[in-house]
Amino acid sequence: MSRTKILYQCQNCGHASLKWLGKCPDCGEWNSFVEEERVAKLKKQKTAEPVVLSDISASTGARYSTGIKELDRTLGGGVVKGSVVLIGGDPGIGKSTIILQSLKGLTDLGKVLYVSGEESPEQVKLRAERLQIASNSIILLPETSLEGIISVAQDINPQVIVIDSIQTIFSLELPSAPGSVSQIRECATKLMFFAKKYSVPLFIIGHVTKEGAIAGPKVLEHIVDTVLYFEGDKGNPFRILRTVKNRFGSTNEIGVFEMQESGLKEVDNPSQLFLSERPLNVPGSVVTVSLEGTRPLLVEIQALVTTSNFGVPRRTALGVDYNRVNLLIAVLDKRLGMHLGAMDIFINIVGGLKIDEPAIDTGIIAAIASSYKNNVIGPGTFTFGEVGLSGEVRAISQAETRIKEAAKLGFAKGIVPANNAQRLEGHGIEIIGVKNVEETIEILFY
Ligand code: TYD
Ligand code: MG
Repeated sequence: MSRTKILYQCQNCGHASLKWLGKCPDCGEWNSFVEEERVAKLKKQKTAEPVVLSDISASTGARYSTGIKELDRTLGGGVVKGSVVLIGGDPGIGKSTIILQSLKGLTDLGKVLYVSGEESPEQVKLRAERLQIASNSIILLPETSLEGIISVAQDINPQVIVIDSIQTIFSLELPSAPGSVSQIRECATKLMFFAKKYSVPLFIIGHVTKEGAIAGPKVLEHIVDTVLYFEGDKGNPFRILRTVKNRFGSTNEIGVFEMQESGLKEVDNPSQLFLSERPLNVPGSVVTVSLEGTRPLLVEIQALVTTSNFGVPRRTALGVDYNRVNLLIAVLDKRLGMHLGAMDIFINIVGGLKIDEPAIDTGIIAAIASSYKNNVIGPGTFTFGEVGLSGEVRAISQAETRIKEAAKLGFAKGIVPANNAQRLEGHGIEIIGVKNVEETIEILFY
């Protein structure tokens, strides 16, 4: 028995409604509803057998290396059999490149099926030549229909499947256009069932919409096991692969790459790289230690504070949350009496990084104060700590990991939360514990 119904569905989040709506009540997007036909299959499903938990024998999950250490790390230590990995990112950021490079390592497992809905086999071949990949285990399939892909996959029995990209794939059973939420959901779900049934790892490439979310984002993110985002800006060769969701490992893990003439190269020591162009003895620059997943990362924060020529001063924050910067500016104003109300303030995390961690608060405060006072912070000094509204500096997690990374790069002095300070001796770094922003600024400049 089957029932057909016309539905209106938000193309951003997948919210469905019986009436057309101008604004999505779920995600707030305007003019995103499109008429779609839904085929509801009301077949009786075969129920699964209940099992006693202690009777289940599960191996700890064999993992396969992609041959790219940084990619393995973001996956939680390698590819898991039957896992579905979504790689999202802007067009042109390097998604197809990294996947093709990883296939070089994955062909050790056997045949690999690369479904290319976007590029012709010749284009893929040209890229493979550029990346120096010549393998007779990589099988290209220039196909966009889901049914076609699944039937080929059943025939050739590949050990890995890559879909490039999910937005080009469509199911013949649905009337809506490729890239619509219902198509993406249908195709991703069917492919996921296939991957689970045959225990094949499946990589799905997805484009990001201009708002920074994968088209049909919530829908896709729920279906897959792991979501990796490829970040970076066009003018900068550095690319960061970030784990947003992972059923087989920790999130927020990052892998750092550099885009070169012959593909993406891994960056083994990102801290060194991000600090490599740091200007020494210049006001407004300070080093802080952020923790991305399990990896500590030294980054430079730059601030520029200038007198504003307009009635309303400008505030720009690149790589950090704008509201967080405004909050810290207010703390500086109130607690330290800095008159920042009439100043334009620009904050930048160098290297195109985006950091979403309160541990860099004292770094932002120090950079702003340094630029405002036109005082230099010593090049061997770093700081980290969360700042509260009353100006107190709060302890942060995994301080020792951060200190060790700083020691490795030869830093001599760390200004850290007082509550972290006692346990951080013995790494060859002078540790100074601070309780509030007043003390932080005092130690930095006097
Ligand atoms: P691509 O992987 O096609 O991006 P996506 O699949 O995310 O759309 O990468 C395209 C960009 O990468 C393009 O601007 C060219 C550049 N590139 C290099 O600089 N070196 C290389 O070896 C390759 C293959 C691409
Ligand atoms: Mg591509």
